[in-house]
Amino acid sequence: MVALGRVEEFPVGAFRILAVSGREIGVLRAADGRWHAFRNWCPHRGAPICRGKLTGTTLPSAPGALAWGLEASVLRCPWHGYEFDVASGRRPFVESRMQLRKYPVVVEGGVVHVDLSPRRSGDRSHEEVQRS
Ligand code: FES
Repeated sequence: MVALGRVEEFPVGAFRILAVSGREIGVLRAADGRWHAFRNWCPHRGAPICRGKLTGTTLPSAPGALAWGLEASVLRCPWHGYEFDVASGRRPFVESRMQLRKYPVVVEGGVVHVDLSPRRSGDRSHEEVQRS
């Protein structure tokens, strides 16, 4: 685990981008209270994904209908607009192996930590753990 800073140093609803152990990590303190951390690298062509827009997306819907949802839960790449769900790191409603590299975040004693250890089978890379 690597300590990144105190909770109050992270704005709500926006990414804070940090250089950590030789890589760039974007940490999101979401408005719903959850924390997310991603490698700042889009798997499509390598854009700094965490500088993209946090938004919603169009939902699967009936022909002729247009439904919007997942507001503030979708990260849109600043280069070509591919979208990723911040909860899973995967593309929403799209069959794709493309996925953001997500790291577990632990908040303990008011300090935000990120786990940069390599992925293991059954790991918790898509979860965040919050302890106070
Ligand atoms: S580099 Fe991100 S969508 Fe192309």
